[in-house]
Amino acid sequence: MRRWRDEDLDPFAALNADPAVMEHFQKVMTREESAGFIDRIEAEFEECGWGFWAVEVEDGAPFIGFVGLHRVPFQVKSSTAIEVGWRLAQEHWGHGYATEAAERAVRFGYDEAGLLEILSFTNPANVRSWKVMERIGMVRDPSSNFEHPNVPVGHHLRDHIVYRFPERPDGLRRPN
Ligand SMILES: CC(C)(COP(=O)(O)OP(=O)(O)OC[C@H]1O[C@@H](n2cnc3c(N)ncnc32)[C@H](O)[C@@H]1OP(=O)(O)O)[C@@H](O)C(=O)NCCC(=O)NCCS
Repeated sequence: MRRWRDEDLDPFAALNADPAVMEHFQKVMTREESAGFIDRIEAEFEECGWGFWAVEVEDGAPFIGFVGLHRVPFQVKSSTAIEVGWRLAQEHWGHGYATEAAERAVRFGYDEAGLLEILSFTNPANVRSWKVMERIGMVRDPSSNFEHPNVPVGHHLRDHIVYRFPERPDGLRRPN
C-alpha cells in the first residue's frame, strides 16, 4: 500500500472504465475523471496523512487498485464519518487482497492516525464489497441505513447499508 505514482493512471483509468468494476456505481469514469480522482486522493494524503492507498502485489502486479481511508463528504446518521473503501481491477478479485489491505488500513487508522471510528457502506447488491466488511470484522448496522445523497431519488443504487466495528466496553468501535 503506497502513495500514487504517475504510471498508476493507465491501469487506474482502465479499471474505472470497466463496467464490471463499476457495476455498483452510476457510470464508468473517463481517463480525465480518473486523473482528477487521483489528484483528490493525493490532496487528502497531503491534508490528513492518509487516504486511498494505491495497492500493488509484492513480487507481482505494480498496481491493482486502491484500498484505504476517506473522509465521507456527506453525513452518515447525522455525523461526519471516515470510511474504509476499496476498488480493485477485476482480474485481481478473489485473492483476498482487498481484505488484507483493508485490515491494514483500519489498523493504521485506529492505531497510528488515532481515528475514533471507521465505517463502511455500500449498496446492498454489492455483495463482494460487504463480504469484505464482514471478513474484516465489521457488522451491519441497520439503524444507519441511508439513501446516498449523490444518487437520484428512485435510482436502484440509492439505498445504502452501513457496517461498523462492534462497540467495545470502553465505548470505542475498533477491531478486537
Ligand atoms: C469489492 C472488491 C474489492 C472485493 O474484491 P474481492 O477480491 O472479492 O475481495 P477480497 O480481496 O477480500 O477477496 C475475497 C475472495 O478471495 C478469496 N481469498 C483467497 N485467498 C484469500 C485470503 N488469503 N484471504 C481472504 N480471502 C481470500 C476469498 O475466498 C474470496 O473469494 P470468493 O470471491 O470466491 O468469495 C471488488 O469486488 C471490487 O473492486 N469491486 C468493484 C469496486 C467496488 O464495488 N468497490 C466497493 C464500493 S462500496
